[in-house]
Amino acid sequence: MSDAAKLLLDGKEAGFGVRHGTIGPDVVDIASLYKDTGVFTYDPGFTSTAACESKITFIDGDEGVLLHRGYPIEQLADKGDFLEVCYLLLYGELPTQQEREDFIYRVTRHTMVHEQMTKFFTGFRRDAHPMAVMVGSVGALSAFYHDSTDITDPHQRMVASIRMVAKIPTLAAMAYKYHIGQPFVYPRNDLSYAENFLHMCFAVPCEPYKINPVLAKAMDRIFILHADHEQNASTSTVRLAGSSGANPFACIAAGVACLWGPAHGGANEAALNMLSEIGSKDRIPEFIARAKDKNDPFRLMGFGHRVYKNYDPRAKIMQQTCHEVLDELGLKDDPLLEVAMELEHIALHDEYFIEKKLYPNVDFYSGITLKALGFPTTMFTVLFALARTVGWIAQWKEMIEDPQQRIGRPRQLYTGATRRDYVGVDQRS
Ligand code: CMC
Repeated sequence: MSDAAKLLLDGKEAGFGVRHGTIGPDVVDIASLYKDTGVFTYDPGFTSTAACESKITFIDGDEGVLLHRGYPIEQLADKGDFLEVCYLLLYGELPTQQEREDFIYRVTRHTMVHEQMTKFFTGFRRDAHPMAVMVGSVGALSAFYHDSTDITDPHQRMVASIRMVAKIPTLAAMAYKYHIGQPFVYPRNDLSYAENFLHMCFAVPCEPYKINPVLAKAMDRIFILHADHEQNASTSTVRLAGSSGANPFACIAAGVACLWGPAHGGANEAALNMLSEIGSKDRIPEFIARAKDKNDPFRLMGFGHRVYKNYDPRAKIMQQTCHEVLDELGLKDDPLLEVAMELEHIALHDEYFIEKKLYPNVDFYSGITLKALGFPTTMFTVLFALARTVGWIAQWKEMIEDPQQRIGRPRQLYTGATRRDYVGVDQRS
């Protein structure tokens, strides 16, 4: 750390250290700013604020680079599988063969949820959005697994982490089955993570379900692409919730709630709805014009990103996965795909989108892919939550294990009323 940054305020100078990461922008360490000068910083939306130090994920938004523990997302998606990525995020290194087998064994043996959870599910209205069910049921895990909620015990932290990764597909599949009125399907430990999830979603008791390896591979890749994305809104929510010492299941439930919004995980659902609303190529100019109109709140869903000012590297892999799935299912002529490709082409050549550096993000092609896999739009964000759970839990663990960790407590610029005296109701005008 060097004492390189100086702030001149009301004629007085204060010095601050500058910290260097392994890659990415330096940070000015302003932790002592208030103590030294009596002022806060103001950065709504945290566009210039590093809220923590992390070794998990790195994004270079200008270059369109995403690394997990140093490994490019393209290589992980091409050569790895989701559980290997989970191991990498949680432990910091790719597993050896023995570690890999051991991890898969541990995750696989935790896939069932407490049988009483099924009763919890039936308390929800049949027409409940599956994300509402997820927020409730993930939070409810802390009522079932008391033996892994002591956050000061490293063993319990790891047990909770494995439980979350293992049980989240079961809960997601249960949310889906409940949503469509079919019986819950129990996990099968002889299947891979993605195969088991497809089985729990699409098998029914009255006939055998045959897993398509191309679709299982695509599902696995979709999980990899969503596994972590450094300090996004839901991850920051998990960290903030965890900073108070809340148990990991409660923290992940907070993350699920934050992810639900259309500016974050809800964008894949919104992107597919938008493509359906556009309907045909000839209506694209009308929607492009609306996206550019300052007086119209409409935005091109699946476009733009707070960090990526270049093509989202996940979007490229998702586009390829989308083609693979549609080819396999004989849906190459899907009119939504046609609209999506044309929309992408037009937007990438339009001055407005070029100037604002708005490129397709991961959600642009994921909706079409998930629809082709057989999921209704209401399940899209649930699938995102399933995949992101490992990222949330890895970030939560990193925070708890940081000796510098303190409760997160942002400050504010207060612009409300100054002190005034209470007036009885009979004297108020
Ligand atoms: N369509 C049209 N204009 C846009 C869009 C869009 N999708 N995104 C940003 N802009 C414009 C925006 O109006 C603003 O214009 P101006 O400078 O004239 O005011 C400018 O671009 C900068 O936008 P911003 O809202 O200040 O940027 P942000 O970093 O706060 O927002 C975003 C990022 C992802 C919320 C936003 O781009 C957006 O709403 N995109 C659509 C939703 C979406 O696809 N979200 C998924 C994100 S990726 C998955 C995830 O992380 O969850």
